[in-house]
Amino acid sequence: MNPFETFREALDIDVRDRGYTSPETRMLLMALAANFRNPKVLELGTYTGKTAQALAWAGAEVHAVDREPDPVFAELTADLSRVDLIRMDVMEFLAGAQATYDVIFIDLDRTADIRNVCEVAKAVLEPAGIIVVHDVDLYDWWDTLLEVFVSTTWEGIRLPAWPTPGESHHLGVAVFRRREKPWAPARKSARRARKKSKREAGSGAGKPEPSAG
Ligand SMILES: C[S@@+](CC[C@H](N)C(=O)[O-])C[C@H]1O[C@@H](n2cnc3c(N)ncnc32)[C@H](O)[C@@H]1O
Repeated sequence: MNPFETFREALDIDVRDRGYTSPETRMLLMALAANFRNPKVLELGTYTGKTAQALAWAGAEVHAVDREPDPVFAELTADLSRVDLIRMDVMEFLAGAQATYDVIFIDLDRTADIRNVCEVAKAVLEPAGIIVVHDVDLYDWWDTLLEVFVSTTWEGIRLPAWPTPGESHHLGVAVFRRREKPWAPARKSARRARKKSKREAGSGAGKPEPSAG
């Protein structure tokens, strides 16, 4: 199969969703995985294996964890020696995980304790690795994710949901990684802020207005 055909198959542009990720999300994951040499991907919640299949086609070795995968998983991944199915609860898996991963794709359901899953997943992420969380808008997880990740040492972006009636739907994805350098306010802007507040203090800005009469 030529690279274009592989990509097209992986995105499955003609077959619309059965609880799979959207073609857009699979495209994003394939592109992210392809940034790593011999990418190792952990998929938490694999269901049919549709995304695991696309990631394997993009050259990744995939550990796909699910306590109740769909029977179609075996069919979709039959020829793919690079996909391993692990039938287990994700928290149980993470507690005993030996390997570390370049990409961790978290695709659970509304019963998931997303805060805990993300906290534990951080421990098995390679230093330059990426965590991708699916269904962020569907389950209203963004605020929790901000609390878990966005800090002086992590950074992230959010790709909001975009429904396309009758076609694919993308239910909100967030991507996080460790910052290359811990974030600190730029010295210049701290100096500028100090100057500004001195100026304001000098000019009387911020003092209460004299009351009329
Ligand atoms: C939305 S589906 C995953 C879809 C899949 N990633 C794909 O791209 O087609 C969610 C899956 O998470 C699994 N799941 C939910 N909570 C889980 C848990 N605590 N441990 C293991 N699997 C879990 C469910 O069994 C279900 O198959």
